[in-house]
Amino acid sequence: MWPNDRFIDLCGIELPIIQAPMAGAAFSDMVVAVSQAGGLGSLACALLSVENARNELEAIRRKTSRPINANFFCHQTPREDHDRAMNWRRRLDAYYVQLQADDNPSIPTSARAAFDDKMCNLVMEFHPEIVSFHFGLPDKNLLRRVRSSGAKILSTATSVDEARWLEDQGCDAIIAQGFEAGGHRGMFRTEDVSTQVGTMALVPQVVDAVKVPVIAAGGIADGRGILAAFALGAAAVQIGTAYLHCPEAKISPLHRQALKGARDNDTAITNIFTGRPARAIVNRFMREVGPMSDVVPMFPLATAAVAPLRAKLETAGSADFSPLWSGQAARLGRGLPAGELTKQLAAEALEKLRQLQTMACESR
Ligand SMILES: Cc1cc2nc3c(=O)[nH]c(=O)nc-3n(C[C@H](O)[C@H](O)[C@H](O)COP(=O)(O)O)c2cc1C
Repeated sequence: MWPNDRFIDLCGIELPIIQAPMAGAAFSDMVVAVSQAGGLGSLACALLSVENARNELEAIRRKTSRPINANFFCHQTPREDHDRAMNWRRRLDAYYVQLQADDNPSIPTSARAAFDDKMCNLVMEFHPEIVSFHFGLPDKNLLRRVRSSGAKILSTATSVDEARWLEDQGCDAIIAQGFEAGGHRGMFRTEDVSTQVGTMALVPQVVDAVKVPVIAAGGIADGRGILAAFALGAAAVQIGTAYLHCPEAKISPLHRQALKGARDNDTAITNIFTGRPARAIVNRFMREVGPMSDVVPMFPLATAAVAPLRAKLETAGSADFSPLWSGQAARLGRGLPAGELTKQLAAEALEKLRQLQTMACESR
């Protein structure tokens, strides 16, 4: 039925749609809904403590026996750099004064921890059928343990070079993440954002360069986008922003509202929320301090100094300092429950395929 069965066969799923792991936004409810609908639900663990990740995985395993994906960041944990932290804090001084904000250590800042032994123990315990990584791969010992759990291993590439490297390390499939994508860029063999590639150009070049199945990500939000990804040679799609509109997404009302009103050209790549490039809806903080800054501490240390400003403004009903993660196709979102959305997207793509086949036949 699908033009390419390689990914659905690899994972034992029905529909070639991965609900993108979205740290801080998609939890067990969404994972269960998507996997039950026949797609692949993904639990992002980067912002979860080991205990919370365990609770989420337990909830998922209680509610579905379908395949799921557990996702982890695998960046190098940075050393604290006092001078850099002070420079960054000084850059934000005027806002602290203006907003009467304190350096309040009680405000929780997102830890964004890298995959480690403890998270690996959870993988060994819960046996997610798929384990995916962002920012490269963990060290060889951890990767060997993940592989020995029986999981298929995926990671994100933003260039042909990264895709080849991931294939050489033994990845079972590669997510080709185009420039349109919401959230953090998975880039790990370059820091140059200016040369990052769009989905339309990236996917076919990655497909030509590797033998494993390729999953297209970035700016895909409806049946047309899914079919286009297959035409480019992809074997599945990974969709994030479209799922942020679902009722299961745990995002703030401010974020939800911003997504509803976002136009095609309302987002930009910024590093000022965390220290790494990511796509978000442009707000005051991005306009005035970024979108890119040379002064930010290494990922994820930039977050701490922004948190009190963000908290102060969110309490007052403003998202001026909040990271409004979004891809370029936010306006294609439709607010359906995640399971229904998954089925509708798949049906739309197949219907579009039939329409094109009919048109081709008629024009002969
Ligand atoms: C809010 C948000 C959070 C994200 N968090 C993660 C994450 O934790 N792990 C990951 O591998 N990708 C993450 N991503 C990136 C997605 O995996 C995917 O590449 C992207 O959403 C695809 O583009 P789209 O948003 O245009 O559909 C995130 C994306 C968004 C929008």
